[in-house]
Amino acid sequence: MICEELLATVRRANRVVVFTGAGVSAESGVPTFRDAQTGLWAKFDPTELATPDAFHRDPALVWGWYEWRRAAVLRAQPNRAHRAIAAMARHVPTLTVITQNIDDLHERGGSREVVHLHGRLERPYCNQCGEVRTLAPPVAGVTGEGRRMNPPTCTRCDGRVRPGVVWFGESLPEREWFAAKKAASECQVFFCVGTSSLVYPPASLPRIAGEAGAATIQVNPSPTEMDGEVTWDILGAAGSVMPEILKRAWDANL
Ligand code: APR
Repeated sequence: MICEELLATVRRANRVVVFTGAGVSAESGVPTFRDAQTGLWAKFDPTELATPDAFHRDPALVWGWYEWRRAAVLRAQPNRAHRAIAAMARHVPTLTVITQNIDDLHERGGSREVVHLHGRLERPYCNQCGEVRTLAPPVAGVTGEGRRMNPPTCTRCDGRVRPGVVWFGESLPEREWFAAKKAASECQVFFCVGTSSLVYPPASLPRIAGEAGAATIQVNPSPTEMDGEVTWDILGAAGSVMPEILKRAWDANL
């Protein structure tokens, strides 16, 4: 599991990257995507909800779904993994958090300057002029699974406001993707936490780090595409493993 050599490598590192996916928020009650029973894609069709075409075809269905997800994230609390990752930043000269998640649980858990590769639920913007829109918290009982809601209209150009997330078929935000590749190619330790490593281009980051000489550490209770390619593969839940590494590497508690 967590060996002394892993801990020594983490302690020695000047630059650490923590790359996360939906699994890091699973213990906060936010569903992952590909879990066979509870995953969002087991219950919903991504082509109906997470593509620009879907939004064009049925904006109310798509907007309602993302408002339902935003309401769920607002009810959720950062878990021990989010908090341990934030605490690690106090023991490492440079720690960069790169996430595929659209929730703000890393930030609420204490991490700063999180690189969001797939956008953010709380940053919707106008589909026409790009103006970012600040939303009031969803009203309880108004949002619901599959409930349709008309997206708001842009206050600047009357365009339609869209969820602030990256959909299938869309490119990643340039500044964030550049920062992620740079951090991965310059780090000594690269954690890969709670991701199935199936969605590209983010899933190429662990290999970029490995090829640049970094030690790569996977944290996941289940096998993934990265098995056999990482330096250390820790089979376990992020909410247990990340606090344990914090404790054993630096004798630090949450
Ligand atoms: N701790 C760590 N990992 C966990 C935990 C946990 N408590 N619970 C589940 N996992 C793991 C699962 O085993 C799985 O490998 O988290 C992973 C979640 O994988 P996905 O559901 O595929 O999510 P992710 O990798 O983030 O998906 C990437 O795909 O659908 C798109 O845009 C969406 O950002 C998302 C991207």
